[in-house]
Amino acid sequence: MTGKNGMRVIAIDGPAGSGKSTVARALAERLGFDYLDTGALYRAVALKLVRAGLNEGAGDDVISSVLRGTSIEFKNAAVYLDGEDVSVEIRTPEAGHFSSIFSARRPVRDYLLDIQRNAALSGSIVAEGRDMATVVFPDAWRKFYITADERTRAHRRFAQLREKNTDITQAEALSDVSTRDTRDAARAIAPLAKADDAIEIDTTDLAIEETIQRIMAAL
Ligand code: DC
Repeated sequence: MTGKNGMRVIAIDGPAGSGKSTVARALAERLGFDYLDTGALYRAVALKLVRAGLNEGAGDDVISSVLRGTSIEFKNAAVYLDGEDVSVEIRTPEAGHFSSIFSARRPVRDYLLDIQRNAALSGSIVAEGRDMATVVFPDAWRKFYITADERTRAHRRFAQLREKNTDITQAEALSDVSTRDTRDAARAIAPLAKADDAIEIDTTDLAIEETIQRIMAAL
């Protein structure tokens, strides 16, 4: 189904380190679609809340009041928090941790819902995250669930962070991926889940190009 105004949405969900961001970005480029990294939005929200001095004990009302005066935008593969490009700062393991914590909260999910849906109003998009096919774009044109076994995902995350000179061990990367996935899948609101009508692709033994080809073949 095409979305509002005839725009097409390709929804891609999956756990941390599954390769979905790399695949979604490349797919968008090949198809001439916009790319929407919703994890980046959750990371930017978490950064704002942490900067405001909040932690996981914060009440919904406090979270809502901080977010009321906040602007978050994703454009040209960069994320802006109140006009500041925070694309680098949101990639630390600490930002990943807090994004997983705060993304379980209702005011955070409500705040980002319109921002995500509005991204599909001006053009066709490849949107990736945890609840693209289940909650944000239930009528998406195509839906995919990208996964890989936990060790592979942890290794990919480790390699990615080391490339950015982040001080992290293999064991820490494994613990980060596994803790975050358990929390993201167990939360009450919009948990990480495969939509019934999504095509599942296990990328454990697939190169990025092979994954892209499988998706292209299913369009
Ligand atoms: O994709 P990522 O690792 O950058 O996402 C960071 C966190 O944001 C992830 O642990 C869970 C949350 N998230 C979410 O709850 N829903 C989304 N659609 C995308 C991310």
